[in-house]
Amino acid sequence: MSNDGPKKVTVSYLREAKANGTKLTMLTGYDYPTAAALDAAGVDMILVGDSLGNVVLGYDTTIPVTMEDMLHHTKPVVRAAKRAMVIGDMPFMSYQISKKEAMRNAGRFLQEAGADAVKLEGGMEVAKTVRALVDAGIPVIGHLGLTPQSINVFGGFGLRAKGLAEAEKLLGDAKALELAGASAVVLEKVPTEVAAYVTRNVGIPTIGIGAGPDCDGQVLVMHDVVGLYEKFVPKFAKQYAKIGPIIQKAFEDYVTEVKSGAFPDAEHSFAAEPDVAQALADKDGDN
Ligand code: KIV
Repeated sequence: MSNDGPKKVTVSYLREAKANGTKLTMLTGYDYPTAAALDAAGVDMILVGDSLGNVVLGYDTTIPVTMEDMLHHTKPVVRAAKRAMVIGDMPFMSYQISKKEAMRNAGRFLQEAGADAVKLEGGMEVAKTVRALVDAGIPVIGHLGLTPQSINVFGGFGLRAKGLAEAEKLLGDAKALELAGASAVVLEKVPTEVAAYVTRNVGIPTIGIGAGPDCDGQVLVMHDVVGLYEKFVPKFAKQYAKIGPIIQKAFEDYVTEVKSGAFPDAEHSFAAEPDVAQALADKDGDN
């Protein structure tokens, strides 16, 4: 059997990247065409994030996102990703109720959607669940710092782990995830020095978002990178393009041209054979 495609990013690639000091790249993706572009750009990991709830489904938080939503969007990403590792984000209440439910739902990401790994939020409190998933053959990425599924407990989207005690707690949580077998950990919205401290003291790669340059890798929400979600742009999100206004103008031009009759023109239409066109014109005279 030959496999001429690109070599798939696996958990061992993540481990080696940390050991070699090779920076890891992760972006979110939620559909086939953008996942194909992410893969072609050489992004190492595509996270089908539950940020889907905000940037695709129009919710204010990630809380309403369901397993069915996540599986629906993970499938096309898997079809597009030839090299990138595809990570399915476990939505709110898909892993918190019991280890059994976590196993069933994480298994669905791999078995039904074809994902390579899952991500879930939390530290020590989810360590046993992470262990069970890894023991069952499911690679897990952790998520610490600002964990949007707990927004109602935190009461806001502010910076996390600002004090020394919180920084130590963050490291403890990261170590608990490492010990439980997690393959990497996302650190969201924590001070640069705190993320660097955690990165230096754990053996698994840290993937930062709003966590400064010293993490082993970086992740951003795709819509922020291309300027497609203007409702809220976090300070840590760099917009490499602003496609929102370009898309808006295309839609407005379409409406204008259809109303005026400028579209469709001959270039975008199909002409009948001349004899058929003539016969139809002659018939008009008969009616
Ligand atoms: O859901 C998501 O997109 C995430 C990233 C912000 C890390 O969890």
